[in-house]
Amino acid sequence: MFAPAATEAEERRDAVGRELPHFPDPAPLAGHGPARIIAMCNQKGGVGKTTTTINLGAALAEYGRRVLLVDFDPQGAASVGVGVNPHELELSVYNLIMERTVQATDVIRETTIENLDVLPANIDLSAAEVQLVGEVARESVLARALRPVLDRYDVILVDCQPSLGLLTVNALTAAHGVLIPLECEFFALRGVALLVETIEKVRDRLNPGLEIDGILPTMYDSRTLHSREVVARVHEAFGSTLLHTVIGRTVKFPDASVAAEPITAYAPNHPGAVAYRQLARELVARGDAA
Ligand SMILES: Nc1ncnc2c1ncn2[C@@H]1O[C@H](COP(=O)(O)OP(=O)(O)OP(=O)(O)O)[C@@H](O)[C@H]1O
Ligand SMILES: [Mg+2]
Repeated sequence: MFAPAATEAEERRDAVGRELPHFPDPAPLAGHGPARIIAMCNQKGGVGKTTTTINLGAALAEYGRRVLLVDFDPQGAASVGVGVNPHELELSVYNLIMERTVQATDVIRETTIENLDVLPANIDLSAAEVQLVGEVARESVLARALRPVLDRYDVILVDCQPSLGLLTVNALTAAHGVLIPLECEFFALRGVALLVETIEKVRDRLNPGLEIDGILPTMYDSRTLHSREVVARVHEAFGSTLLHTVIGRTVKFPDASVAAEPITAYAPNHPGAVAYRQLARELVARGDAA
């Protein structure tokens, strides 16, 4: 017996069976800016925040968007992932937020990817959490530091560290939207309520325009019932906040980080690269990115 060929209709369903809309290639932009700032946020570690920051950024850059990645994690993984050595930095995002004389343009670096710049971080940033506590308007330091470069970019992606501390609150205060990468694992939803509560607090007290742009399932394995169950539960709880795009689990992502390249450059035709391009198109179609 031959297995029946998948029909067109079946192919155009997402992981929870919703009809998958067509996300067109984004139209070329006539000019650039002002940027929409998106914070990549989940206090759970290792869920794909940095991978999403780098690869969504690279995909948007391929579509002609001017993109700035802000590494807001002292581990510096986003910086390393686009080829910047965090140990050799004279200036990093730490200097930008702690020293009034340092401008974003002093710290921003171009990457090897056209249209993709990075504001790098290193371990120095770990001191900022404590040092910021005594600052005036300590929650809006990042927002203020980014303001002068908003006009140069279409999208600014902030890679948060796995915590809900003051640095993350700064990212949420600076942001227009939050993207929540969620690993398709058993305890994935644990902690999401607290994250949503934090986002709502920041919206009420500091940043009234803040929106949750979407929840992005990562490390999805369609062969396991388990992955499908996690995504179904997210859909039950969050409805259309669950994005259509899911990112599959593949070693190509760690491989690409070892090569210090986005997957879109390292393995341009790999399903992982295709998925991040779809995410870029989905966000543009939703109005969450230029
Ligand atoms: N879709 C995926 N499939 C397989 N591995 C992945 C995938 N996405 C990310 N990874 C790998 O999982 C690890 C954690 O990913 P990543 O660093 O993006 O998570 P994170 O949320 O930024 O972590 P942290 O909270 O420590 O900052 C990395 O080794 C990364 O290469
Ligand atoms: Mg990270």
